[in-house]
Parts: sequence; C-alpha cells; structure tokens
Amino acid sequence: HTPNPQSVCKSCDPQPANCKSNQCITSCSVSKTCPGPDDVCAAVWRRNKGKPIMETMCHNPALPFHGQYLTDYNNSVCLMKQVKGMEDDFYICSCNQEECNDRLFFTDEGVEKNPLPVLLVSVVPALIAVVVLLSAFYCYHVFHQQNLKATKTKGIDSETCAIIMSDDDRSDSSSANANSLNHNTELLPIQLDTIVGKGRFAEVYRAKLKQGATDESFQMVAVKIFPYEEYASWKTEWEIFSDAELRHENVLQFLTAEDRKAERRYWLITAYHERGNLQEFLTEHVIGWDELCRLGGSLARGVAHLHADRTPCGRPKVAIVHRDLKSVNVLVKSDLSCCLCDFGLSLRLHNFMTPEELANSGQVGTARYMAPEVLESRMDLENIESFKQADVYSMALVLWEITSRCSAIGDVREYEPPFGKLKDHLCVESMKDDVIRDRLRPEIPASWTNHAGVHLLSSTIEECWDHDPEARVTAQCVVERFIEISSAVISPLSADTKSAQDSGNDEEEI
Ligand code: ADE
Repeated sequence: HTPNPQSVCKSCDPQPANCKSNQCITSCSVSKTCPGPDDVCAAVWRRNKGKPIMETMCHNPALPFHGQYLTDYNNSVCLMKQVKGMEDDFYICSCNQEECNDRLFFTDEGVEKNPLPVLLVSVVPALIAVVVLLSAFYCYHVFHQQNLKATKTKGIDSETCAIIMSDDDRSDSSSANANSLNHNTELLPIQLDTIVGKGRFAEVYRAKLKQGATDESFQMVAVKIFPYEEYASWKTEWEIFSDAELRHENVLQFLTAEDRKAERRYWLITAYHERGNLQEFLTEHVIGWDELCRLGGSLARGVAHLHADRTPCGRPKVAIVHRDLKSVNVLVKSDLSCCLCDFGLSLRLHNFMTPEELANSGQVGTARYMAPEVLESRMDLENIESFKQADVYSMALVLWEITSRCSAIGDVREYEPPFGKLKDHLCVESMKDDVIRDRLRPEIPASWTNHAGVHLLSSTIEECWDHDPEARVTAQCVVERFIEISSAVISPLSADTKSAQDSGNDEEEI
C-alpha cells in the first residue's frame, strides 16, 4: 500500500443497501477525508433482520477489520468477500480510490442471496446447452435413419452411376450414408449373387439389395468383400469413398461400408454396372468413333475430377491420386461412359504431406501400367503433381487400349493389353527394360493417322506417356482435348460403318 494521507471515502453508519444484480450503491452522502495516513476505504454488507444493510468507513489495513485483516485494499474497486465463521451473510471489502466504497461489487455468490438470479445466470445457460445438444443429437439420429431408409428403399440408380438421393441429401456434402459404417445392428438386406471380379485384396460380387417385403423388389449392387486380414485395404478405400466431394458421375458410386463381424469380413457396397470392366468390354466389342470419344472423354473426366482440388461447383476438395489406373479398374456404364473403381491404392494429397510421408507410400500399382519414374522409384516427392503425372501415364495406356478397338483406326485387331498378351505376367524388372531402357510404348500404327480424330487423339496419348513426367499434359487438359477433338471431327458415320465392315467386325460393333 502506498501511503495516502488524503484518502477520501464514504463514511456512514449502517443503512439500507440499494442493490441491483451484483452491485450495491450506498445512499451515504457523507464523504470523509480519512484521518490516518494509511487509511483506505472499506465497507461492510450484512443482513439485519433479513434486510440488507451496508456501512462505509475509513480503515487502516494494518489493523484488524471485524476480526479480519484486509488483503484487497490495493484494489481500485470494492469487491465484497464473505467473511466465513461470522454470522451468515457478512461481507467486507476495501479499496484505495477516492470514494471507491460508494459502490460494492459482489462476485457470483451474489448479494441478495436470492436464488433466482443465481439460477438464471448459472443454470439456464447450462440447461440451454443441454437442450441444444439433445436436439442436435435427435436431428442427427432422425437424419441418419432417414438416409438409411432412403438408401434401403430407393437404392442405387446403376444406370446413372448415382445413388438416388433427395435434393436435401444431395446438398449435404457430408452425406451421412457415404460416411457411415453399418455396424451389425443395421446391416443392409443384401443377398449375394455371382462373383464378378477378383482383386489383390478382395472379391467383388453382384448382389441384390432388397427394397421391400417381397423378394421381387430389389436393386442390383456390387459388394466388394475383404477378409478381416485386409482391414487396411478396406479402410483405405472406405476413407477415399467417404469424401463426399469425390462424388462424380465418372467415379464409382459408393453406398456404404459394413463390418460383417459374424462372417469376419469387411464390405464396401457400391453401384453395380452390368457391362463390367473396360478390359472385358473391349475384349468383346469393337467400338465406333462416338463411343471412343464417350469412353475416353469420360475416363479423362473421372481422372481430372480425382486430381482436382476443387469440385465442379468450386468447393474445395482434397486431390486424390489413383495409383492403379488400368482398364480392369474402369467400369463401363450402360450409357457407355466410364467410371473409375478400386481405390485400394489411392492416396489423398493433403497440402501438409511431407516428402517422407509421400515416400513411405512406396512404389505401388501394376507393373504393366507403371510410369517410368515409378518403375525406377525416382519420383519427385517434393512435388505432389508427380503422383498425378504418373496417373496420366497410366491413363494414356488405357486411352490407347480404347483406341485400339475403335473401327476408326482401320484394321481392328483382337484386344490386347498394352505391352503384350494378357497372360504374360509382366514384372517390374522386365517393364524397366522395355519402358526405360528401350523407351518402348504401345504401337501407334501409321493407319491411325487416316482418321483426323484418331490422329489428334494419338498425339494427345503420346503427350500423356512422355518419358518426362513434367512434359505430360494434365488430365483436365485431356478432357479439353476430347471436347475439341469430338467437336472438330463430326462423326463420320459412313466411314465408321465402312471400316467396321472392312474389318469384318460389324456384329460386335455397338
Ligand atoms: N467389378 C468390379 N466392380 C464392379 C461393379 N461395381 N459393377 C460391376 N462389375 C464390377
């Protein structure tokens, strides 16, 4: 305490207190220059026969005040403190500013000891918080149930590669059904049918998603089944699918994930496409120029969407790289557009990923489709674009496969994958010899230049499989090339028909 010989304080005998909320103002009109050089202003508040009264005075803090030593006399305002062990409701305060004992402040304990304001201040906000939380939980629960019901009753429109959802569902980017895991209690009523695909970690089944009480009403879905040991692959793919921003007409539509505990299996449930994968489709069909543009253009749109860091509506999105693009991992929809599937090796490219994290993701994919820099593990890990460039290389091989089965190239041979026969198992070492040492690429015969569109497309394909990753065009650029190519080259229907007849494949052509 700095000695203040001239402290001026209110100084009145006990009188009724004028209190509102947590402050009391004295009606004392006597201001007094304190006698002692060390005196500070002090006040007492207490009840007298139930009525609050207050008393103001000067006091030397070196001396006890109602049996207490004042500790708060350096305060500029008078903050009331309850004196324990005295009669009930006995408060004191002290302060060192002029007439600061004019107004007494009470902390949460309150002055009136009227439980109502205390209740209002402390309990009501807590109650409101509880009500808000309960309402939010209730809304979430109802929303989740409705989504589940909508999925069960409406299911998937496999024709458009889209789960049929209400507009409300669609506008919610964190669509509950896309993110949820069905636990045993709420497993979808699904009956497995035939196996339609077998991958490294899982098998894919065609299956019936029951829609009502009868067996007749169902929707076809695809179920990818992972053994419990392949939890990591299931989780990776589920996490990729769970990003609501991944939804795109050229990306396989995801329905839900299930932990089938009883069978020790993990499921991923998606749209089903009866035309199967692109490799099977190209093996069985020769296509026309329009179909080439449709299949190729939609493939490029799917990859461009995956790689993009914005949705078509401009919302931010995490860029994803597929890392195993090949004709087996592309499905053909009934309208002859493509959708990408099998995201088991995919990677979400967060901006904050370190080169170590990127390097740890390792050399993955299928040797036949691996870019030269992936084959020799020499990717530029400082730059996340390099992962996209490797995808573009693989996409070029798929575009070549599609083109090789198009009647517009002239003489259409039997389907063959890039770099030779299917049955040949190509390992990384032999691919290195071909792709890096000999700079080999699938053949683009001279006859491909006879058709203006195929000619332009071939140049784009060559740009996509350039040895130098930086020189490759982006998937988005390929999308734009397809727009230019297909609008510049008006479908030469007669020419298509002619080449199909020449090649003797007209029965297969669609
Ligand atoms: N093969 C793998 N996934 C498939 C799907 N969703 N539909 C049809 N065939 C598939």
